[in-house]
Amino acid sequence: MTTETIFSDRMLSLALARVSEAAAIASARLVGGGDEKAADQAAVDAMRTELNKLDIAGVIVIGEGERDEAPMLFIGEEVGTGSGPGVDIALDPLEGTTLTAKDMPNALTVIAMGPRGSMLHAPDVYMDKLAIGPGYPEGLVTLDMTPTERIEKLAAAKGCDPSDLMLCVLERPRHQEMIQEIRKTGARIRLITDGDVAGIMHCAEPEKTGIDMYMGSGGAPEGVLAASALKCMGGQMQGRLLFRNDDERGRAAKAGITDLDRIYTRDELVTDDVIFAATGVTDGSIVSGIRYDGDYLETETILMRSKTGSVRRLFYRMKAK
Ligand code: FBP
Repeated sequence: MTTETIFSDRMLSLALARVSEAAAIASARLVGGGDEKAADQAAVDAMRTELNKLDIAGVIVIGEGERDEAPMLFIGEEVGTGSGPGVDIALDPLEGTTLTAKDMPNALTVIAMGPRGSMLHAPDVYMDKLAIGPGYPEGLVTLDMTPTERIEKLAAAKGCDPSDLMLCVLERPRHQEMIQEIRKTGARIRLITDGDVAGIMHCAEPEKTGIDMYMGSGGAPEGVLAASALKCMGGQMQGRLLFRNDDERGRAAKAGITDLDRIYTRDELVTDDVIFAATGVTDGSIVSGIRYDGDYLETETILMRSKTGSVRRLFYRMKAK
């Protein structure tokens, strides 16, 4: 292997931040505009343009969907100049399209990159997810436990009462039963309307975000992105793919997944060191959203490497007019 073909996470990390910044900047004028599709399209176009400037032989493993439904950044699409290292890329150019369209908190542009074969090729189905922050024994809480058991375990390990715990859950009819069970334990819930990548990332910094545990189902692609983030920030995560019909089971087969009931740990979702970048589109507890200051526009990006555990916050200011 020549040096040019080795995945250098250090060299590529700043480049990755530029990619996520570009997507956020492109969607900036569409925040609050009520048009989810336009905001998503702007972010997709910008992310693709920036990715294609990089000296990588990149393959999208988590993207906008299958080739026939996503004209750009589809799963399997090759990006980059093709002259650098072979890398896997997971991305969500706009995580929280509705949050963006309605100017609600925690919309992000998100991208992760690792060497070939480093990420689960998760099909576009739902995933049952569970996450807690760093510092707890491995396997303290699992997807096999009931919500009550998870809360009891976490409260005991934290040395607190269940009512001192704050959980984060997507507000969906499918979560009603789980929400009722959580409430019976006394634990409290921050219900979010969208954006479970941010929801899970919140677990890594409980002192800052107030969130101790995330649970519930959301997109499987977002699950791999969240696992990439937690691999950098610390914290545990488990995910199990959920299939509603044969079409979805067929997508798993296409992705080479045979054990449909498997529970993946964070390090099985993302098996090698990765870099992760997310830029705020709307204000959130992880990064600030895009700001205008006269003729200038500012973004905040969180840029992380799992190999070193380094976390950078990059503020970018550019002339907007
Ligand atoms: P989009 O940005 O694609 O709209 O996804 C937002 C999101 O809330 C994800 O964070 C989450 O994983 C998924 O949608 C949940 O799906 P559903 O809205 O079908 O419950």
